[in-house]
Amino acid sequence: METMTNSLVVEKAKSSKIHQVDFNNLSFGSVYTDHMLVCDYVDGAWQAPKVIPYQPISLDPSAKIFHYGQSIFEGMKAYKDEAGKTWLFRPLENFKRLNKSAKRLAIPELPEEYFMEGLTTLLQVDNDWVPRTPGSSLYVRPFMLASGKGFHASPADEYKFIICCAPSGAYFSGKVKVLIEENYSRAANGGVGYAKAGGNYAGQFYPTQLAVAKGYQQVIWTDDNNHEYIEEAGAMNIFVRIGDTLITGPTSDRILDGITRKSILDIAKDEGIPTEVRKISVSEVVEAAKNGELKEMFGAGTAAVVSPIASFGYKDSDYDLPELENSYATRLKKRITDIQYNRAEDKFGWRYQVQ
Ligand code: PLP
Ligand code: COI
Repeated sequence: METMTNSLVVEKAKSSKIHQVDFNNLSFGSVYTDHMLVCDYVDGAWQAPKVIPYQPISLDPSAKIFHYGQSIFEGMKAYKDEAGKTWLFRPLENFKRLNKSAKRLAIPELPEEYFMEGLTTLLQVDNDWVPRTPGSSLYVRPFMLASGKGFHASPADEYKFIICCAPSGAYFSGKVKVLIEENYSRAANGGVGYAKAGGNYAGQFYPTQLAVAKGYQQVIWTDDNNHEYIEEAGAMNIFVRIGDTLITGPTSDRILDGITRKSILDIAKDEGIPTEVRKISVSEVVEAAKNGELKEMFGAGTAAVVSPIASFGYKDSDYDLPELENSYATRLKKRITDIQYNRAEDKFGWRYQVQ
């Protein structure tokens, strides 16, 4: 049945798969809701988006996504509060970053109303899928891909913008051990590191596999010049606490400008925690670990939320982080998730109700 919600066409699924899902045992991003949003770019314009039943998409084998990797994505979450209301966290930031990535990958930018109306309509239709179980949320994955045909190495003339959603639990299981990379690079000056381009992630898989084989979960990327400075991890920005100061590296054209990162910085300042945004050298971190000044390291991102790092490896040595009571990571995670789940005042105006 096709209905209009707001101004969008909604084609409802004939039946729901929701009863097949164990909401008490959710992994990350592996089961999908009943519907998806699709929007096609054809004849030089984005066409009106539609909500349709979740289904495979069909592409010509010559579609440029397959050959030249012209694709980008975003990651956001929808949260349900005690009263059953659904909330997003700073969705316009994801929209702006999507278009920033689109521009860098020569993909046509999407109008804001298509993103916001499409997103909110999809979340209304699949509202029952936003988990109520503690620590869980609906992971929302907007993405764009080049569906236009041709082996010519140039931008496609047709694209798809799609949003799919997955009720999800924690991204990491167990303690997070990271390896500080001294050989491979994730991004370079003038490159696409700041964009959420699919290829940025594909390029990390092999070095990450090598790190996983050594018992680490993620790689901490360092600068591509001399591997001297800490940049970010595969799916999160990095914070380091030396003494009482919380430090994170500056964003650049090599680093993703994380929404969690900037929110954590604002919350930390609000908590009275001394913060610094500056380059962090690997030698400084190793030195601080050796002399006991390195109190905490944690990653911050939509999927990872705030994930404390238990230890890091560098040049064949492992360094353990202390387990602190009342750590910055615990305090900051509580503050940000209390805002996201509508459990606390939102003095920054970050929450966005889906209604
Ligand atoms: N860095 C990378 C490479 C990421 O993929 C992500 C996840 O989106 C982040 C950082 C954190 O960004 P955000 O907090 O906006 O999710
Ligand atoms: C996110 O945190 O939303 C991300 O996009 C990271 C992803 C690679 C899982």
